[in-house]
Formats: sequence, structure tokens, C-alpha cells
Amino acid sequence: MVTATKAYQPKLIPFTDFASVTPKTNLNDLNLNWKERDLPERIRTKHVHRLHPYLGKFVPQLVEIFLRKYQPQMVIDPFCGSGTTLVEATALGMDSFGADISEFNCLLSKVKVAKYEPNLLEKEVKDIVKRFSGEAQIRLLERRAIYTESVYLQEWYAPEALYELLAFRSLIPEYTYQDVLRVILSRAARSARLTTHYDLDFPQEPQTEPYPCYKHKRVCRPTRNAGQFLVRYSNDTVKRIKEFDSLRKPARVEAVCGDSREVKFPDCDLVLTSPPYVGLIDYHEQHRYAYELLRLLEHKEDEIGSSAFGNSIKAQKSYTGQIEQVFDNIKRSLVKGAHLVVIVHDRKTLYPEIAKRLGFKTVTEIHRNVDRRTGRRASEFFESVFVWRKL
Ligand SMILES: C[S@@+](CC[C@H](N)C(=O)[O-])C[C@H]1O[C@@H](n2cnc3c(N)ncnc32)[C@H](O)[C@@H]1O
Repeated sequence: MVTATKAYQPKLIPFTDFASVTPKTNLNDLNLNWKERDLPERIRTKHVHRLHPYLGKFVPQLVEIFLRKYQPQMVIDPFCGSGTTLVEATALGMDSFGADISEFNCLLSKVKVAKYEPNLLEKEVKDIVKRFSGEAQIRLLERRAIYTESVYLQEWYAPEALYELLAFRSLIPEYTYQDVLRVILSRAARSARLTTHYDLDFPQEPQTEPYPCYKHKRVCRPTRNAGQFLVRYSNDTVKRIKEFDSLRKPARVEAVCGDSREVKFPDCDLVLTSPPYVGLIDYHEQHRYAYELLRLLEHKEDEIGSSAFGNSIKAQKSYTGQIEQVFDNIKRSLVKGAHLVVIVHDRKTLYPEIAKRLGFKTVTEIHRNVDRRTGRRASEFFESVFVWRKL
């Protein structure tokens, strides 16, 4: 077992020739400690990877390395989140299957990997953009329209912004590619919340007054409108989907919403996943605006590791039990010799025991330095890449 800690590879240049990876590549020879200059945000968020913000995503290039190394017939991701594994597998022409407990995350994954007729998509998006501002004016005159909406929406949006979002939403059923429009709406809704520019991930309460902005180093005002975001993200979404469409290869891909302790997975020879960690993130709450606006069903009680359950010893025990149930469920779909690549910031060192109890052989464990580049969140940390094999 090789550990690529700071002390182990301080001088090697991080590995970026992703297309050169083959089954013969020795993973332990690769320096995966990318800094911003090695793997800039623009490359990490290429094409559909940036259709919508999602906290807790893994780096697509890391996924690409493991897909090229193991060349699976079918890869599954039981915690597919925003669909990174599915997108990368599709880009390489490999079959993939993902599941996630969050309806919004599944929507995002599905929209990223769906096949579109690009001209129709462009036509529909242009059309709704043209129409929504007229509809918003009508809603402004019929102010009662918003009283039927959730308290959350009324609190977190300026009235004008809410009219625009609701106007856009009311038009969606008239189009073919409704899920794409839902994702555009959600992305605009995220940006249009009454929040500070520096706290878009987990804002605590609505910001209604001007405030000193750490990000822009001046006094900023919370946004009053959503229209500019709807237009900008509409154009950006079409561009990104078209770009992915031009490079994807034929492959089967499916994303389902469900609890991975129970989902029926197809037979596979690779599992590539980053599980939720104990007490770290609430994956439903981070997209609360989308649940409210798109009226999605929540399955919070089945979300593993949610920060709402804390990270006490009791929570850790329950978390390990639940993660084991997921891998136990997957085990029956794994062909003999299948690999499992599990990427996790294992702060409590829970995963080596999990592998043992599940009877997986540990092939290697790589420690990767993660340099936190954005936001005001904690600084760098080490994440583990566990490679296990089913005997
Ligand atoms: C670390 S994130 C995965 C992110 C993903 N690798 C990506 O790049 O977007 C973990 C995911 O596990 C999902 N999850 C939590 N509990 C689950 C469960 N019981 N079954 C399926 N998915 C679950 C969360 O909704 C979250 O999207």
C-alpha cells in the first residue's frame, strides 16, 4: 500500500495527461494533488459538469483516470449526486448506472446525460426566454399569484425575482425538454436568492439590506431580479449540452432516484463512487430552493450521513451500518474480481474496517491533497481513494 502524502511526492508535477491512462498505468505512480494552476476550475467544470452548482462533487478528471484504468463493461455509482461518474463514462462510451436518494440530484444527472435534438433544444430555450418576461409582467399585475406559494419562496426572494421565476415555471409544461428548463430555473433561483455573494452554499437567513461583501470588497446589494440569471443560464446550458453532445460516445446510461440500500443494480465490474460522509453535508437542504420551486419530493430520512443527524459516536455507528448495507446490496451485482473505487474524506478512519467487514480486498489506498479553492470554507485536506476488489 502506498500513501501519496505531502512528504511522499512533494516535487513531482501533478498528473494531467488523463488520456494516456491505460490498464497498465500504476495508480500509485500518479501525483493526484492538483492545485488550481494544474487543473483550473474551467477544466474541472467543462461542458455539462457546470449545469448547476453542487457542493460535494468529485473532480471529473479523477473519475476519468479510474475509468481508463479499469475499462469497465458497466460502472455503477450508488451515490451518483450530480452525475459526474455517468457523464465521464458516457464521454468514454462506457455503460453506466447511477442512483441517488435526492430527487433533485437525479434530475441533474438525468439532464446531463440525456440525448437531445440540439436544434429543438435551442429553439425551445430561446422561445421560453423570449416569453417569460411578458408573463412576469402579467403576474406582477396579478399579485395574488404568489400567495399560494411556499413561505420559503416568499422569504428568500424579492417580489420581482419571484414573479420572474414563477412566470418561467408556468411556461415549462409547454415544452419538450422540460427537465432542462427545470434545471435552468433552479440555477437562476439559486443565484436570485436574497443572500450575500459570499454565502451561496448555506445561507442562514435572507439578506434584505446592502451589506459589506467579502467577495467583492465593497458594499453589495441583494439581488431584486431573476431575469438576468434566467437569460444567462439558458444560453449557457444550451452551449454546454451541445458541447457534450458533440463529444459523447454511444453508451447506455441510467440514473434512478432511490435508496441505494434497496435499489436493484445491474451486474457490473466497477463501482466508482464518493459516498456522503458522516455529519458533513445535508444534500437535500443545499438545494432547498429547487425542492420548493420544482415541488420535488424529499426523502430526508433516508439520506445517509446528513449533517442533520450530527457526527456523534452514535451517528458514526449508524452511518457505517448504512454504508455497509449499500455495499452489501451492491455486492450481489458485482462480478468476481470487480473493483470498487471509493473516494471519501475519511476523517474518522471508518472505511478500512468497512472494507474488512464486507470482505473486500484492499488493493491500494491513495491519499490525495485537496486544495480548497473557492468560497470561505475550510482550507486544504486529504481525501482517500480506496481501491477494493471483490474476491
Ligand atoms: C458525495 S455526494 C456524491 C457526489 C457525486 N460524486 C458527484 O460528483 O456529484 C453523495 C451523494 O449521496 C447521496 N445519498 C445519500 N444517502 C443516500 C442513499 N441512501 N441512497 C442513495 N444516495 C444517497 C446524496 O444525496 C449525495 O448526492
